[in-house]
Amino acid sequence: MTQERIKNSDYMPWAKTQAHARFNLATSGVANMTWRELSIELDAIEITGDGFYGYPPLIHALAARYRVAPENIVTAHGASMANHLAMAALLDPGDRVLIEHPTYEPLVATARYLGARVETFERRADAGFAIDPAEVERRVDERTRLVIITNLHNPSSAFTDAATLKEVGRIARRAGAYVIVDEVYLETMFDCAPDPAFHLGPEFISTNSLTKVYGLSGLRCGWALAPADVARKMWLLHDLFGVIMAHPAERLSVAALADIERITNRARALLERNRALLDAFLRARSDIEVVRAPFGTTIFPRLKGGRVEELCRLLREKYETTVVPGRFFGLEDHFRVGIGGDTQTLAAGLERLGRALDELAARR
Ligand SMILES: Cc1ncc(COP(=O)(O)O)c(C=O)c1O
Repeated sequence: MTQERIKNSDYMPWAKTQAHARFNLATSGVANMTWRELSIELDAIEITGDGFYGYPPLIHALAARYRVAPENIVTAHGASMANHLAMAALLDPGDRVLIEHPTYEPLVATARYLGARVETFERRADAGFAIDPAEVERRVDERTRLVIITNLHNPSSAFTDAATLKEVGRIARRAGAYVIVDEVYLETMFDCAPDPAFHLGPEFISTNSLTKVYGLSGLRCGWALAPADVARKMWLLHDLFGVIMAHPAERLSVAALADIERITNRARALLERNRALLDAFLRARSDIEVVRAPFGTTIFPRLKGGRVEELCRLLREKYETTVVPGRFFGLEDHFRVGIGGDTQTLAAGLERLGRALDELAARR
């Protein structure tokens, strides 16, 4: 059976035009840093610079941070473009890609836009959304070119450890496939964060950015850590997309990486405060069921009795609050709540979510 080639994501137009609200719990990252908080002298910025295949100071900063060689790094416009370039480098139309389900929908949309045939393997809610390598093994065959997973998992924030990843890598390698691990949430583990999956073996490609953990989405500072031959293909594909990065953003990214400890401390303090609010909220609720992950910026509760669309409508219309409907992740009785926003907004948003859940229960 052929799969229709698509040219859009279902989720992104919703995220760009419908997610905004006074109490926005639909975001998945740590609250944006402001220019003032970043505190960089304008003299440090230049409009145009060197480095057609990567701005050397940025490549070197990333190489030092992740203990990889410069030739293993490709910078890109966000993890989004890093994922796109990696998939485009590795896939031909008709190739099979195995992607976790539920997952971040643009990963699926990108693979399908590239003409790949997408198959899925289940991360089951009743197993804590853990990856079961046996399930991956059942779904991989000799035509599979690529396996794609998120770690931490979007939407649930479940963590996949190195032993499980290695097992997935072994299965992929046997089929001659690569594994992309999207790690945009991994560093919310802070001191507990493991090395990027790239270090686990030659079949692994890690993608990441400064967007989610560090609140620096506007810099569009994304990257992939990839075997050198794959990285070279990705750089050549860059020439067909944006060609080069916006140089002021590269300069700002270098400055942000030089100050990453302070930026990390800000994120850690925010998430610690917010997690305490989340804990209190969840203790008080029996109408939702949730896999609790100790890290991350999102949770993905199941609304007992379903009616998530009704909940989202009520939240938006009466409570000026948004969460992400589970349909975007292929699980309609779930919804995703982001806990990385500023603390006051989260407190008010959770309070409103509680009131909407109560009202929904009373309607029965
Ligand atoms: C798993 C995952 N990857 C990538 C992205 C996009 O990140 P970036 O802003 O770096 O493109 C998101 C954003 O929600 C995401 O959830």
